[in-house]
Amino acid sequence: MFEEISEYIKTPCAIAIISRSSSSATDLKSLLAEKIQEQQVYVKSFREQYGSKVIGEITVDQVYGGMRGIRGLVTETSYLHPEDGIKFRDFTIPQIKKLLPKSPGGNEPLPEGLFWLLLTGEVPSAEEVRSVSKMWAEKAEIPPHVVTMLNNFPAHLHPMSQFTAAIMACNTESKFAKAYADGVSKNMYWEYTFDDVMNLIAKLPPIAATIYKNLYRNGSPISAVDLEKDWSSNFTSMLGYDNPDFTELMRLYISIHSDHEGGNVSAHTVHLVASALSDPYISFAAGINGLAGPLHGLGSQEVLEWLTELHNDLSSDATEAQLKDFVWQTLKSGQVVPGFGHDVLRRTDPRYTALREFALKHLPDDPMFNLANNLYRIVPQSILALGKIKNPWPTVDGLSGVLLRYYGMKEIHYYTVLIGVSRALGTMASLVWDRALGLPIERPKSMTTDGLMKLVGAV
Ligand code: MLT
Repeated sequence: MFEEISEYIKTPCAIAIISRSSSSATDLKSLLAEKIQEQQVYVKSFREQYGSKVIGEITVDQVYGGMRGIRGLVTETSYLHPEDGIKFRDFTIPQIKKLLPKSPGGNEPLPEGLFWLLLTGEVPSAEEVRSVSKMWAEKAEIPPHVVTMLNNFPAHLHPMSQFTAAIMACNTESKFAKAYADGVSKNMYWEYTFDDVMNLIAKLPPIAATIYKNLYRNGSPISAVDLEKDWSSNFTSMLGYDNPDFTELMRLYISIHSDHEGGNVSAHTVHLVASALSDPYISFAAGINGLAGPLHGLGSQEVLEWLTELHNDLSSDATEAQLKDFVWQTLKSGQVVPGFGHDVLRRTDPRYTALREFALKHLPDDPMFNLANNLYRIVPQSILALGKIKNPWPTVDGLSGVLLRYYGMKEIHYYTVLIGVSRALGTMASLVWDRALGLPIERPKSMTTDGLMKLVGAV
């Protein structure tokens, strides 16, 4: 058996080993079961051969510096390449845009297909994607106690706090928590996790839409789920938007925000909390709390605030010199220009490029888009001229709010909730794999400053 497996170690994309022709699986869970069996053997063999191989060294600055660059996590669903940007399994954003099934007449990838890809490493057929849309539509109903809770939140409670609280309260539904309490065997953990994950993802659009309607549309009810429609289409209807282009934007938006390897705050938090065998609902809620931080998911709202300020001060036909001066004022006052610079990326975020292409097609004359587009040419050079920062390139946050605003969604405090709905796809697919691979409770070693000093011979 292991001689066969050593062959696999030479192949770069481990998960794609079972070809669909040799698979008898007819649905997502059975295909996943096959993939998991294969990957368990593959990882076991890899660890037996290379488990004690040294893969890096750590400096004192990295220990104080947010562990930047330290390889310490396994995440199978995606990998962030500093130059090429995010790769979902092995696929870039242009590739997923081309390869994943679209809605009839549509151009943007359906997030259900991306979820299938993240989970299995396989590009699904249109029919397989429809089966996921249907499954999520069937499971969309929110438990009554969660509806009551949402309807009783005060209007000044931030949408992200409402979102995370509602997700947490859905853990009354957790099959994993029940199975664990009943003493289920460890090798069944992933199956109950998968069931919870499907149920949780299905409920996110109605939860998010209820928050939106309560806060911004006088509590008017969300529309009923349509079993024939895809996930994003149901979501935009629930939010009260009927422009098909907005639904297309949502499909793209949800697909590209879904996963950003395992080290970002939300993904890492989900992984950490779930490593204690917390159920998927409370693990995901923990990650969403991380997403609510201004240095993470809240960035999207901050960009639009800054752009609006700029627009109000200078108007959208500001000259290049005026824009440069505004950017300089922001930088000189010690602030960052929101939407530019990323800890890992060393080029323009391909998520930004995908949104820019969408905007060039659908809203080329929008004044706010033109402003953002001009800044795209100006800001990186201004930041580079400061000589301190090596990564001045625009991130996805630089445009996402501009597009949402164009279609009428002007409630900037809500934007991060949309990223939260999307981030479920990556973090939850990853969690199924954490359970399948039996990853243990995460427990890195911390040090005191005195301890570190002794370690490096400073005292
Ligand atoms: C993300 O999408 O998670 C952000 O770009 C942050 C990150 O990758 O660290």
